[in-house]
Amino acid sequence: LCFFSAYSLVRNCSGEEEEEEDINRSQFPDGFLFGTATSSYQIEGAYLEDGKMLNNWDVFNHRQGSVNGENGDVADDHYHRYLEDIEILHSVGVNSYRFSISWARILPRGRFGRVNPSGISFYNRILDNLLLKGIEPFVTINHHDFPQELEERYGSWLSPLMQEDFLLFAKTCFKSFGDRVKYWITINEPNLFADMAYIRGTYPPAHCSAPFGDCPVGNSDVEPLVAMHNMILATAKAVKLYRNNFQKNQGGVIGIVVSAFMYEPLTEDEHDVEAANRALAFNVAWTFDPLVFGDYPPEMRHCLGNELPSFSPEEKEYLKGSIDFLGLNHYSTFYVKDCIYSSCPLDRDRPIRGFASTTGDRDGVPIGDRTGMKSFYVVPRGMERIVNYVKDRYNNKPMYVLENGYSPPRNQDVQVQEVLNDVKRIEFHKAYLASLARSIRNGADVRGYFIWTLMDNYEWLEGYSLTFGLYYIDRQTLKRTPKQSALWFRSFLTNSSSYQ
Ligand code: NOJ
Repeated sequence: LCFFSAYSLVRNCSGEEEEEEDINRSQFPDGFLFGTATSSYQIEGAYLEDGKMLNNWDVFNHRQGSVNGENGDVADDHYHRYLEDIEILHSVGVNSYRFSISWARILPRGRFGRVNPSGISFYNRILDNLLLKGIEPFVTINHHDFPQELEERYGSWLSPLMQEDFLLFAKTCFKSFGDRVKYWITINEPNLFADMAYIRGTYPPAHCSAPFGDCPVGNSDVEPLVAMHNMILATAKAVKLYRNNFQKNQGGVIGIVVSAFMYEPLTEDEHDVEAANRALAFNVAWTFDPLVFGDYPPEMRHCLGNELPSFSPEEKEYLKGSIDFLGLNHYSTFYVKDCIYSSCPLDRDRPIRGFASTTGDRDGVPIGDRTGMKSFYVVPRGMERIVNYVKDRYNNKPMYVLENGYSPPRNQDVQVQEVLNDVKRIEFHKAYLASLARSIRNGADVRGYFIWTLMDNYEWLEGYSLTFGLYYIDRQTLKRTPKQSALWFRSFLTNSSSYQ
């Protein structure tokens, strides 16, 4: 019932017929950035080499580890193989590459120690080699990992002190790398991080609120809100610093990227329609509204009252217009059911869901093909819809899709040949790109699209069992092999007709 095919008409899972368009690079504006994305902990390895000290993920994973006790100690060994990886990027033909900087490599003890010259030198080498190949670096300052010392001293993002640490880290990055980096992202997915670290308790420091009470530290629902508050203020401070001291000479732009799922009402009932809007506001606008308009979304204030932290009048002024672009990581769409007028006990206590519960199927029919990431579905129309939502809410401020990707369902017995022949990933990207192209045709100012991810890597809770990469990595030898999708992306980028 639910499939993608090469034919021009496909039936999506809700039974609607959608026209499948041919997609090629010429449908995107000149200068559009096409890249792949990675993050430090997920690919680098070398977790204690050349002056790097332990970060939150090292410690968390050494205590318990994700699936099968896996961790990022070695990961893809990118730390030693970065030249090969840049070569690979070059061969795919991307004009940009998004990666993140390991905080614990640059400032192993945060403000409480010194800058580590080997860390600086590692990223210098990466930047220089990318530029030699004509690849534009798109740099995430912080992607979920930070020195463990900051957790132990004051509870990391739960404390305003973390803003000062972030500021020093950001400043060190601007100073050391800003001559070559023209695109900066302050923090990756603060909304998802707040949820995972302080509600579900699945990311370090593993605090969780009832009813997800199976992790060691219980807390109140306020913690995710406080963590976000500090991440927003930290972003605004780093942006001000960049604008005042670096932007003029260095000529770059700076923004933030959120986890941006699309939400559709489960039924036509007005309460579900409202709930879907709330879910969007609680997810996407939670981060963007303060940085664009100077305050949290009215939808959140309305539901959460004083539980939601407040910004002072000075902070509001300071926050307004704090980012140059809006970054979206988009993977999936969900149906939303209202939990204010009807009861859904599980999610009622979880304010950051917008007092709504999400589901992947309607009357037993899934919203899209299932993927390997439990709960992610293939719903290409979601790309156009989320972009339109952000376009309308933020007056068409420049946007970048900084992650979009597909992992197949896990299968232990699968043969390497099958992994390499990743037709579903190709169909996924074609369909999502076509959806993105539609939004651009309708006027959305989207300026880039990054595939998550260059090569299979450490996927947080799922360890190495999920494989989002365009390149396959043999976990024993760490050898990189292109999947069909890498070849498809190359042919898409070079407009050649050699790949069908
Ligand atoms: C979002 C995160 O930024 C990235 O680290 C993660 O691997 C992908 N999504 C896939 O889950």
